[in-house]
Amino acid sequence: MENIRTVIPNEFVDPHTHILPGMDDGAKTPNDSVKLLNMLKREGVTTVVLTPHFDCIRGSLESFVRRRRRALEELKQAMGPQGGLCLLTGCELYMDAPVDPFLDITPLCFEGTRNLLVELPWSKKWSAAMIENIYQLSCNQNIRPILAHCERYPAVQRDPRLAYAAVEAGCRLQVNIASLLDKGRKKLILRLLDQGLISFLASDCHDPVVRPPMWPAGLQALTEAVGPGPAAQLLQNGGGLLPHNGSERAHEVPF
Ligand SMILES: [Fe+2]
Repeated sequence: MENIRTVIPNEFVDPHTHILPGMDDGAKTPNDSVKLLNMLKREGVTTVVLTPHFDCIRGSLESFVRRRRRALEELKQAMGPQGGLCLLTGCELYMDAPVDPFLDITPLCFEGTRNLLVELPWSKKWSAAMIENIYQLSCNQNIRPILAHCERYPAVQRDPRLAYAAVEAGCRLQVNIASLLDKGRKKLILRLLDQGLISFLASDCHDPVVRPPMWPAGLQALTEAVGPGPAAQLLQNGGGLLPHNGSERAHEVPF
């Protein structure tokens, strides 16, 4: 059995979480948020990107940013003075339609960077226009898109070539660590990994009971399947998503 401690880097980033209280279908209360952060900390995570869902076609960016700021304050108050965990703000942007090219979406990016987590539709077939929207984001707004949990979309499960199309459009692909525990999703992930299409791992955790982080079990499954080298590389890639000057713009919070 592989020892996953050898694959965990000093800077262990979870770039996709739904921890901010009351923002979306993730943590409902500050108490649940604190439980999730404690779980991530026990699993070895050192930096958490807070990525609540946002859809700029159906909601106002200003009001999202205001709500996110309030939720972060609420979370900090609930945490109290223990240990150290770095928190960065971001979002998971639903991309069903083009983003207004005149809208400044940098507040949606991972704090202090141009990295943006994007989500494509679940129920619909992906169209060429959807992939084009992502390409426009990277070209026109100098954004570096990351496609959330690419292995979970029925469209990709039916036709894995869509993952390649997303990469060609400028996306880096993220997979959920818990998907390594599902036989069908794991098979797809291994296929995409073999083709060099996966860049990042994340927990996409929502709550402490139904959708908890699952890093150790997922990393164990991954390491057994591909060996410690590739697993360690995927985790190290996460460090590249942080602002160049590290803590300068990060919320270093007592936790
Ligand atoms: Fe998510």
